[in-house]
Amino acid sequence: MMQEIEKVLISEEALQKRIQELGMELARDYEGKTPVFVGVLKGVILFFGDMIRATPIRSQIDLMAVSSYGAGTESSGKIVLKKDVSLNLEGRHVIVLEDIIDTGLTLKFTVEHLKAMHPASLKICTLLDKPARRTVDISADYVGFTIPNEFVVGYGLDYNDYYRNLPFIGVLKPEVYEK
Ligand code: PRP
Repeated sequence: MMQEIEKVLISEEALQKRIQELGMELARDYEGKTPVFVGVLKGVILFFGDMIRATPIRSQIDLMAVSSYGAGTESSGKIVLKKDVSLNLEGRHVIVLEDIIDTGLTLKFTVEHLKAMHPASLKICTLLDKPARRTVDISADYVGFTIPNEFVVGYGLDYNDYYRNLPFIGVLKPEVYEK
């Protein structure tokens, strides 16, 4: 698997350090509240587990599955809701956790879907932000890392559902997806 990785963009240590910082920031901002972390599957899976543990306040969790990508590296632009949340989010403080904001289409769909449930507040926390690829006007309230326009995998992010188990964020060799 490692021979298909061109370089490590964000090391495991850097990821964990930044997640600890974000967790302390969220703990301060949500002190006295009981937020619901809503993760957007599947890419968020590792970030979700680390992020909720890094935020030492009373909270609840829920998960959605939304998909925009077909096979390959380009978004199809079509968003499909594959799994909805199960908690009642009305009047709740919702923190959406995402692994990456690329075009922003997934997040726009997610936010509109969750806002229709009338939460008390809704904020977005993304591990990675790739602003160069944005096609819709949306931004996160909490950002782990702003990254260049490179095809990244690892730490939950995939190519054709592979590489999610890498503990770091790496850049995939172009020959892997140009084959
Ligand atoms: C990826 C990623 C984000 C989304 C970002 O998910 O996990 O959710 O794309 O792209 P966008 O900003 O262009 O919408 P994907 O749809 O590939 O599903 P996955 O999380 O199951 O890999």
